[in-house]
Amino acid sequence: MPTIRALLAAARPLLVATSFGAPPREAALLLGHVLGLSEAQVLARGEAEVPAVAEARFRELLARRLTGEPAAYLLGEREFWRRPFLVDSRVLIPRPETEHVVEEALAAPLPERPWILDVGTGSGILAVTLALEIPGSRAVAADLSPGALAVAAKNARRLGAAERVSLVGTDLTAGLDLARFDLVVSNPPYIDLGDAPSLSPEVRDFEPALALFAPGCGDSVLARLFAQCAALRSEVRLVVEIGCGQLAAARRRAAASGLELIRVREDYAGIPRVLVLRRGRG
Ligand SMILES: C[S@@+](CC[C@H](N)C(=O)[O-])C[C@H]1O[C@@H](n2cnc3c(N)ncnc32)[C@H](O)[C@@H]1O
Repeated sequence: MPTIRALLAAARPLLVATSFGAPPREAALLLGHVLGLSEAQVLARGEAEVPAVAEARFRELLARRLTGEPAAYLLGEREFWRRPFLVDSRVLIPRPETEHVVEEALAAPLPERPWILDVGTGSGILAVTLALEIPGSRAVAADLSPGALAVAAKNARRLGAAERVSLVGTDLTAGLDLARFDLVVSNPPYIDLGDAPSLSPEVRDFEPALALFAPGCGDSVLARLFAQCAALRSEVRLVVEIGCGQLAAARRRAAASGLELIRVREDYAGIPRVLVLRRGRG
């Protein structure tokens, strides 16, 4: 039987050599997943022997990772706002920059017991996080994808937010009474289909197209959402994530829908990433 150390030593160079440059630490994460150990435990037990069944399972996961399948799907989980969210190939893998949406949403003026709408909820990260972070709040998590709603429902249950989060299958806000919401958040699909060839294979070939690409041009879903949000009450904040280089277009779309841009939040790379808007007063 090989030791943990030997399996890791063989796997790390294979990960590093992938065209997408997988981090070598993923070897320990995948082996830990198979053995039911944390990364730290795996690293501390280098001389332990790995049983044949576990070795075979590790080799299978490693082979899938080497084809580009994201580690989060293989591990079944990704952390967001310090909570572990279940993820699979039906949902976008939560990105760190989306935490800026949470930060801006938590800074929004809110009444007691607010109602929150998350448009395009995916794994439910925004709806569940805000429902848990804002005392007395209730969230509606909407998505067009039945698979995404199933994952969001599991996350709401697992993280103790099931009673505070309702799931709705709909196209953006169709059928919802926007006047009842006190805060709207969204990380809509915003990649132009023409940019697909330049995406990493990890993203392009494995994450759901519905979560990535906006039909037509990159800001088409955002434009539809903005038009619908003209029906919000004037004090209500809309907090949305945008793609790299989309600020100017988003400004034009917002103005065309009568929305006022209150704040632009940059991500850790200095890219304008999150917009805070409200209905214009004119
Ligand atoms: C970029 S993902 C964001 C998921 C999640 N909010 C997050 O930040 O990780 C966009 C989500 O919007 C959903 N979506 C795409 N088009 C939609 C539409 N027209 N109406 C509702 N949801 C849509 C996708 O299924 C996907 O779950």
